[in-house]
Amino acid sequence: MKDWVAYYDSNHSIYVNARHRDVHYGRLADAIVNHVRARTAAVLDYGCGEALHADRVAAAAGRLTLAEAGPAVRGRLVERFKENPNITVISTDRLATMPPESYEMVIFHSVSQYLTREQFDRTAALFHRLLQPGGLLLVGDVVHTEQLAAMPLEQWNLATEPLPQVPAEHEVFDRALTRD
Ligand SMILES: C[S@@+](CC[C@H](N)C(=O)[O-])C[C@H]1O[C@@H](n2cnc3c(N)ncnc32)[C@H](O)[C@@H]1O
Repeated sequence: MKDWVAYYDSNHSIYVNARHRDVHYGRLADAIVNHVRARTAAVLDYGCGEALHADRVAAAAGRLTLAEAGPAVRGRLVERFKENPNITVISTDRLATMPPESYEMVIFHSVSQYLTREQFDRTAALFHRLLQPGGLLLVGDVVHTEQLAAMPLEQWNLATEPLPQVPAEHEVFDRALTRD
């Protein structure tokens, strides 16, 4: 295995079957929708994977950017959502050239544990630059929770706040960070 991006870009078997994969992405899409504040929200899903039900997120928000590092996964995303004008598929590398404050909400689900400490810090700084003031960073499925606990929030100018009013059984995120 070259690295985690290559692994997730390959024909891996982390899901038991297609139904499991579909349920995972459906549940995640619904959880994201629960946090969308307005129909005009610009949302970034960083390391989105197959994002099978991203159309639900795009329907709830105004604009959805799916950022994925794996070229094969990205190709499938482009094909899957080519008819949806509210969804843009890009490489995670492209985000470095995006204007500041482009997004109201950033999703960072099941990605942080694959990054080195250096990559993690760089990515968090990127999110801070891309989020609008008051924007929300939703972090979920964090395997190394100490990594999240060690986030230098003051340095990134992010204020942590309790998750909004989502019933616990529908919540998949561990932490919501509001950019000040
Ligand atoms: C388990 S999948 C998560 C997909 C989706 N976010 C979800 O929750 O189902 C892990 C994702 O992390 C991404 N990833 C892993 N290492 C990365 C890195 N160094 N830079 C950017 N993305 C990375 C992979 O490309 C993959 O999309």
